[in-house]
Amino acid sequence: MTSDFKVRDISLADYGRKELDIAETEMPGLMALREEYGAAKPLKGARIVGSLHMTIQTAVLIETLVDLGADVRWASCNIFSTQDHAAAAIAKAGVPVFAVKGQSLEEHWDYLDKSFAFPDGANMILDDGGDATLYVLLGARAEAGEDILAVPGSEEEEVIKAQIQKRMKESPGWFTKTRDAIKGVSEETTTGVHRLYDLHKKGQLPFPAINVNDSVTKSKFDNKYGCKESLVDGIRRATDTMMAGKVAVVCGYGDVGKGSAASLRGAGARVKVTEVDPICALQAAMDGFEVVVLEDVVQSADIFITTTGNKDVIRIEHMREMKNMAIVGNIGHFDNEIQVASLKNHKWTNIKEQVDMIEMPSGNKIILLSEGRLLNLGNATGHPSFVMSASFTNQVLAQIELWTKGEQYGNQVYILPKHLDEKVAKLHLAKIGAKLTELAPEQAAYIGVTPEGPFKPEHYRY
Ligand code: NAI
Repeated sequence: MTSDFKVRDISLADYGRKELDIAETEMPGLMALREEYGAAKPLKGARIVGSLHMTIQTAVLIETLVDLGADVRWASCNIFSTQDHAAAAIAKAGVPVFAVKGQSLEEHWDYLDKSFAFPDGANMILDDGGDATLYVLLGARAEAGEDILAVPGSEEEEVIKAQIQKRMKESPGWFTKTRDAIKGVSEETTTGVHRLYDLHKKGQLPFPAINVNDSVTKSKFDNKYGCKESLVDGIRRATDTMMAGKVAVVCGYGDVGKGSAASLRGAGARVKVTEVDPICALQAAMDGFEVVVLEDVVQSADIFITTTGNKDVIRIEHMREMKNMAIVGNIGHFDNEIQVASLKNHKWTNIKEQVDMIEMPSGNKIILLSEGRLLNLGNATGHPSFVMSASFTNQVLAQIELWTKGEQYGNQVYILPKHLDEKVAKLHLAKIGAKLTELAPEQAAYIGVTPEGPFKPEHYRY
């Protein structure tokens, strides 16, 4: 066992291992990749830094990467999302992991730094939200003498800057060297993908990137069906509130919003949706949800959930108008969807981990989940294994692609080819007893495909 780890309690490892054993039975895509590539070890030589929620499902991903030959070091991408028994099981299996549920922001960036500490340096990144990529690129810019603070005064940016300065002092030139050694990054989520496209647009992406999020078998499944299960799970574990009959507002009707609205409807809530995009607003309306503006429902609704990947969606003026004991939470990647910083000078009463009651000037109180960080991972255990298997099968295929064929890629953002997307889906059919119809050659020719696929043109939207 390695001693190179930071977990809450290593004695949780056996419990973690039992849950991992169960998760493996629900993750057919990852297990099929072990079967297909375990002997060939296509990731031999890859030294992968993982920055992704340290859950049981991620533990199965990590062990798949190791089985395919990679060296792996891991940090969580969120301070509340770690499952301590999963981290313990992974540490006990010999993989250096740095993740504790409820770690501070300072620890978060320190642990990310530690996850880069391969003796020969990292050469691949597997990211969720882009923190590992950001760390290396910001550090390299700081080494080049640039001022790296985009929003001076932001608590997290000050923490990042301090961590970067510490590393620069201890190992001059480390960021530039690390940046130049990275062969590629695979990115898990919508928000991280935005960051990558932005870097590319500015000519600042120094290595190839694969956008895993926009595999159909990722965003149309994890973001949607995953949130459909895990949103209500988080609200229930946090509050035990009766959702049936209550009015819930979902801000944003993209993939996560669609799953979240369905989740709340499934629990019996009367769901309203806010949107800025007329296409998504029309989709919400035609799915049977009332499309409203927040200001019109802020006083009457019981539950507010942000799903936008945007900032300042629920603001202080909204929270001040909410009814007593309204529940407020976010399921988007970052904590700036709700203006939590503006609540700091209010009276907070901690109810239990990741549940706070905050008193407004009117005397009304609101219940804030996970301090505005993604509540399905903060208050519950994130998405179920089966849907994460689809996401993580894409991750592993992306890592194999970048590691084995990286030189064929430019410094751009790519998505996996459709035949691999279809392969990921196919690997998940048998588990749920789904039988695929085969195309006759004449039928295939009639619709302009081959019987083996791909079955749709690139522009098809699913
Ligand atoms: P998306 O782009 O499909 O959907 C976001 C929607 O929010 C868009 O339709 C957009 O028009 C809308 N929107 C933007 N600003 C708005 C505003 N001010 N008011 C109302 N609507 C607004 O993105 P997706 O894939 O749904 O992801 C959303 C967020 O959730 C991202 O941060 C992503 O990284 C994160 N995510 C979280 C997961 C979790 O398990 N918690 C899983 C997958 C993604």
